[in-house]
Amino acid sequence: MKSISLTRFLIEEQREHQHLDADLRLLIEVVARACKAISIAVGKGALGGVLGSAQSENIQGEVQKKLDVLSNDILLEANEWGGHLAAIASEEMDLPHAIPHRYPKGEYLLLFDPLDGSSNIDVNVSVGTIFSVLRCPDGVTEPTAEDFLQPGTRQLAAGYAVYGPSTILVLTTGAGVYSFTLDREVGSFVLTGRNLRIPEETQEFAINMSNQRHWEAPMQRYIGELLAGKTGPRGKDFNMRWVASMVADVHRILTRGGIFIYPRDLKDPSKPGRLRLMYEANPMAFIVEQAGGAATTGRERLMEVMPTDLHQRVPVFLGSKKEVERATAFHLAGG
Ligand code: AHG
Ligand code: MN
Ligand code: MN
Repeated sequence: MKSISLTRFLIEEQREHQHLDADLRLLIEVVARACKAISIAVGKGALGGVLGSAQSENIQGEVQKKLDVLSNDILLEANEWGGHLAAIASEEMDLPHAIPHRYPKGEYLLLFDPLDGSSNIDVNVSVGTIFSVLRCPDGVTEPTAEDFLQPGTRQLAAGYAVYGPSTILVLTTGAGVYSFTLDREVGSFVLTGRNLRIPEETQEFAINMSNQRHWEAPMQRYIGELLAGKTGPRGKDFNMRWVASMVADVHRILTRGGIFIYPRDLKDPSKPGRLRLMYEANPMAFIVEQAGGAATTGRERLMEVMPTDLHQRVPVFLGSKKEVERATAFHLAGG
């Protein structure tokens, strides 16, 4: 079979579907190019002097790694001059990044988690990049944080790159989910997965069990049933995986099914979850729904949450449809 590059795939998509215009195509290509550069930096590891802390904190009070800062810079530099964007928001920046006046502006807003799973960098475990694309509201020429506060249902595209044994880019523009593997010799992403589908049922779950004592009652009950295995109410054994890089956990679920949960917990009641709505939850929810899965906060559809803050956190339940529906039903029942 002839190999299809990301460039060719996007051009053919543009011909076929009206939802992909030239600027959105350019945007996706530019993000993919930045992901290649990040992949190279990640791959150099200690030889590139990129490991360890940057000695700074982001707005969420998390210590930034050198690669968090480097990946953010790579994505900013790649995206600011192309004329396709109105502004950029990142997990690592307090406020949106305006497009410098010397460059033309476009109609799209780009949001990203430049390096997801950064606690795994120094131990050589998979990390990734997550991105989401929204339209800049009509008539807005200098977008502020408020212009980004749109529900996930308004996303025009979303994707992630996972820097694992191979570098894989997963993408949706609202017409299914496609994956591309980086051909390192040629330097291009090649289509390797079409119309990915998440199996509806699963026997695998992903959760950080160390937080169990802080969970709400419905979570305790739901996971308790999974742990009870064959002799419990579910009548089957479940397996557990937790990479602690959302990209890697979601990628596994996209490949072989599963449920991923980062619930609300009562450890710090000021935080309604660990993961960020705009940079992590929404783009992953879009991808998962497009692959036939489901994504909720445990109580409502994730992509319908009306954001109130660019950096807000949410509980995340996503993956195999039947499992997510079951866990959500437990929460809605409140018991
Ligand atoms: P980030 O590195 O962008 O801050 O995100 C890390 C996230 C996510 O990738 C992962 O699922 C989760 O944090 C891991 O949390 P724990 O350390 O609590 O397991
Ligand atoms: Mn992250
Ligand atoms: Mn991050």
